[in-house]
Amino acid sequence: MTVHFIGAGPGAPDLLTLRGRDLIAACPVCLYAGSLIPEALLAHCPANARIINTAPLDLDTIIGECRRAEADGYDVARLHSGDLSVWSAMGEQLRRLRSAGIAVSITPGVPSFAAAAAALGTELTLPGLAQSVVLTRTPGRASAMPKGESLRNFAATGATLAIHLSIHNLDQILTDLQPEYGMTCPVAVVYRASWPDQQIIRATLGTLKAAIQTKIERTALILVGPALAGEGFDESCLYASDYDRRFRPQSAKGQTND
Ligand SMILES: C[S@@+](CC[C@H](N)C(=O)[O-])C[C@H]1O[C@@H](n2cnc3c(N)ncnc32)[C@H](O)[C@@H]1O
Repeated sequence: MTVHFIGAGPGAPDLLTLRGRDLIAACPVCLYAGSLIPEALLAHCPANARIINTAPLDLDTIIGECRRAEADGYDVARLHSGDLSVWSAMGEQLRRLRSAGIAVSITPGVPSFAAAAAALGTELTLPGLAQSVVLTRTPGRASAMPKGESLRNFAATGATLAIHLSIHNLDQILTDLQPEYGMTCPVAVVYRASWPDQQIIRATLGTLKAAIQTKIERTALILVGPALAGEGFDESCLYASDYDRRFRPQSAKGQTND
């Protein structure tokens, strides 16, 4: 018996990996993390599967469901939104399951920051503008930030920031970022990337507040940094015609087969 953690992707049901789909279809028990998992994914569960929304459950109860499945000899598909490596609460479940001797597997998913970048039609690491992406958040009611992981510190790097779980802190975010990035730095808010009601707001750090016309809550990402402009960047060496690289050695140029 195994608990299979599966990254369910950002929302669109077809942004699930084939491995994730097949595991869901093979597991008689499915535990899914509430509102961020599209119902359509649950259609992959086998008929008569035990399907449980874990949003109202606490950790003890979730692990209890896994133990119950173990006693029945049933594999479990454990779905979390996006990818499992960030803000999935997988870590605490892994710890409990491993100490209970229950086998686990992990299948990655499409993270929301990648879906947001796709919705914006942009690359977040543009040569000459940004070569790092910081996946971060601001402090929440139940989650303090470790010392040093402040937005101001990250902003000092000039990297592209993908700020999660923080749309309700927008005023503070703007206050923290404006001194480092400047008022004209591009910013985008992507609400429910890849869902049918997706919304995109593009602005600058100076104009974002005014650009948000409707109340945006919860499932939104704030992306900030010079790369969001999508212009004024260098071409990469990767495809430069005179760049010597393993798959396109310059020494081969001019050679003919005759
Ligand atoms: C609990 S975290 C889950 C993150 C997830 N594990 C991932 O890989 O993106 C939830 C936060 O992720 C972001 N998020 C998740 N899905 C999103 C989507 N479809 N569009 C925009 N932001 C999303 C929002 O910032 C939301 O508050």
